[in-house]
Amino acid sequence: MVGVYRMHQAGAPEVMQWEEEDIEAPTGKMVLIRHTAIGLNYIDTYHRSGLYPLPLPTRLGVEGAGVVEAVGDAVEHLQVGDRVAYAGGLGAYAEANVMPEDRLVKLPESVSDEVVAASLLKGLTTCYLVTRTFPVSADDTILVHAAAGGVGLILCQWARHIGATVIGTVGNQAKAALAEANGADHTILYQTEDVVARVKDITDGKGVNVSYDAVGKSTFQTSLDSLAPLGMFVSYGNASGNAPAVEPHDLQNRGSLFFTRPTLATYAADPKDLQDMATQLFGVIAEGVVAIHINQRYPLSELVQAHTDLEARATTGSTVIIP
Ligand SMILES: NC(=O)c1ccc[n+]([C@@H]2O[C@H](COP(=O)([O-])OP(=O)(O)OC[C@H]3O[C@@H](n4cnc5c(N)ncnc54)[C@H](OP(=O)(O)O)[C@@H]3O)[C@@H](O)[C@H]2O)c1
Repeated sequence: MVGVYRMHQAGAPEVMQWEEEDIEAPTGKMVLIRHTAIGLNYIDTYHRSGLYPLPLPTRLGVEGAGVVEAVGDAVEHLQVGDRVAYAGGLGAYAEANVMPEDRLVKLPESVSDEVVAASLLKGLTTCYLVTRTFPVSADDTILVHAAAGGVGLILCQWARHIGATVIGTVGNQAKAALAEANGADHTILYQTEDVVARVKDITDGKGVNVSYDAVGKSTFQTSLDSLAPLGMFVSYGNASGNAPAVEPHDLQNRGSLFFTRPTLATYAADPKDLQDMATQLFGVIAEGVVAIHINQRYPLSELVQAHTDLEARATTGSTVIIP
């Protein structure tokens, strides 16, 4: 038997209930992983609240690290005892989970299980955002919303390492200090400052080359108004609710803007891309280019509190759940 969180209806954090169940022995290309650390990601709240509807009942959680406990008879590259992790799929909020071999990344000795659980999904996302969606260069000035959040801190560090000028928006002064210590050249307190005016001031009226916006509804207009001609609006999340529809004429009138709504699921769909991006991520972590900040840890039994805190904007950096 293993302990798992399951929800029978969408809603507030309390819909996640602890249950015991038999876990299937892996067959074919499936692998049984005993978790040592579990990631907390904003998408988990979309699944739980019903913003991203799932067939019910369902298990939750998309990111886990741990040790291979059993393998199906068609598994080729993994064996019992290997350290692995995944960022995608469902069922991570549990003591153990079964995943396909081609969704698993083998872990190098240079990273701990906790660091991986804190960074695989957020770091792979950052990797594709700054190298593929909009390949950031040293000539670019970029806007990062929620700069002190999980993805935000990794994104600020990675872009700064490339040489870009990084402007981050944050909810309070402590988050501003954290973002500035992790690559943000400028921070804007969006609760009290005019974000667009500050962006225009910092960029001598030009605007930014890209806005990385995962806040969604409440920052949509700010992102649009902050872009330079030929700039790219990367709408990659909806922490404040879904962004409104995009008006093509508006993109035209503002100077041939680009708009994209990317997902890690697309960029990591090919297992080779998943492995390549993981190698890049573990490389920047090992080199010290990107530090992973685990600023909250919760036992698995306190998952409801972890969701409550994430949605209340009470967390910074990454959060790890310990089974
Ligand atoms: N498309 C993809 O491939 C992909 C992959 C991973 C993550 N994401 C997205 O990236 C975003 C960040 O994920 P994360 O796990 O690292 O979370 P996070 O950034 O640590 O937490 C969300 C942050 O958003 C800010 N925020 C602004 N308005 C908010 C509101 N109304 N409600 C809640 N938070 C609000 C808060 O920071 P302030 O207080 O500073 O405003 C909050 O701390 C999420 O939107 C997630 O969906 C997308």
